[in-house]
Amino acid sequence: MIKGFIFDLDGVITDTAELHYEAWKSLADEMGWDFDQVVNDKLRGISRMDSIKVILDHNNTSLDEDTLVKLATKKNELYVASLDQMTPDNYLPGARELLTHLRTEGFNVALGSASKNAVKVLQQLNANIYFDVIGDGHSVSKSKPEPDIFLYGAEKLKLQPEECIVFEDAESGIDAAKAGGFYSVGIGPKDRVGHADLRFDTMGEATLFEIKSHFKDLF
Ligand code: BG6
Ligand code: MG
Repeated sequence: MIKGFIFDLDGVITDTAELHYEAWKSLADEMGWDFDQVVNDKLRGISRMDSIKVILDHNNTSLDEDTLVKLATKKNELYVASLDQMTPDNYLPGARELLTHLRTEGFNVALGSASKNAVKVLQQLNANIYFDVIGDGHSVSKSKPEPDIFLYGAEKLKLQPEECIVFEDAESGIDAAKAGGFYSVGIGPKDRVGHADLRFDTMGEATLFEIKSHFKDLF
């Protein structure tokens, strides 16, 4: 029986991938590193420090841990400054409608994000009201594809994984949901989230009606 939903933030509730891209691109240009949208797509769902390592691998470069932390911090300052532009108009189409519907029907809802900036993003969107529990980059130490952030959300909601549906736009996020024993909904192309139990190209298609129709024996 489904009693709860756990949502990833970036790429599910709002599209921050472009803001992450601009901040990483600015750092990469300064450092003379190659960085483009294809590499940026590989950073979906993974932590800030894992992200900088992916970018360095792509450039066949390595740096000591202290330098990595300093550079990732610099990128983060650019990213956080860019979040000031975000407003409640910046939900992905359909996201606010689904969150509102879940509230109306009395489901338990948690955030399960890898981002250490999730609270700021939720504030900019005025989205705190939709969540009973906030799981973010500060809540657990092992990041996606490990299931820890979703297990944290389920535990705080006092639900079992098999009572929750996870929404994710990242390959590593669907891997994490499956590893934790959750049902999963993927948002995005087949080659990224085709391994989810149910997939939509966009959040606009992910209505509660569609979700209930697909998982009908679970409601
Ligand atoms: C995830 C994003 O939600 O958060 C990743 O999909 C990002 O691209 C990660 O690297 C960590 O974000 P932050 O805000 O802590 O740097
Ligand atoms: Mg995401």
